Amino acid sequence: MSHPAASPDFWHERWLHNQIGFHEGQPNAHLLRHWPDLGLDPSARVLVPLCGKAHDLAWLAARGHPVTGVELSPLACAGFFAERGLRPEVRPQGPYMAWSAGGVTILQGDFMKLEGTWDACWDRAALIALPPELRPRYGQVLRGCLAPQAPVLLITFVYDQGKRDGPPFSVGDPEVQALYPGATMLHREGLHEDPRWKEVGLVEEVAWRATVG
Ligand SMILES: C[S@@+](CC[C@H](N)C(=O)[O-])C[C@H]1O[C@@H](n2cnc3c(N)ncnc32)[C@H](O)[C@@H]1O
Repeated sequence: MSHPAASPDFWHERWLHNQIGFHEGQPNAHLLRHWPDLGLDPSARVLVPLCGKAHDLAWLAARGHPVTGVELSPLACAGFFAERGLRPEVRPQGPYMAWSAGGVTILQGDFMKLEGTWDACWDRAALIALPPELRPRYGQVLRGCLAPQAPVLLITFVYDQGKRDGPPFSVGDPEVQALYPGATMLHREGLHEDPRWKEVGLVEEVAWRATVG
């Protein structure tokens, strides 16, 4: 049987009831710290899978990147633009509704249907939001959408999955290396201070620089 988080309904319910503890309300600290080191030209097209209404989208767009987020929830899409006082253009694009304004397009729909080409990827709470049975397909879709040398900046959590159910799921280093051969660890830290993780014991957050090729 598949995990409830494999179903779109799981996420639609979360957004409907505002159970979005994953939403940071500011650009992610690892993004601020590591993105400039990728040395990307502002023209590089950035893909943000499972983007929610993350401030990261606006931060990346402010650096000049054309940004594409992919997100199931129309509430997240509407929220992202409303919070910035933007009125997006909304039009069908293949299997998606494309919401666009301010250099950001959010493709509202299932990431697993994505086609296209991007030059870089920011993955915070995307891979680790997916239960194990969906992660190989996620990798396959990314490989189809990113050039072999396109940089991926990825954040994972590592903890004892037996002590807590996801999401966020624990994604160990071997799985990262299988998905992204030769991935380089940029940063690793224990979340000792975070009360939400108290019952789990050691929880590590890991930042990776990777490519799909
Ligand atoms: C844990 S949240 C992270 C959101 C965002 N990356 C952030 O940092 O705030 C995962 C998001 O992925 C969305 N999602 C889950 N499965 C998806 C899918 N198959 N296609 C597109 N979006 C999906 C959910 O609606 C949710 O907003």
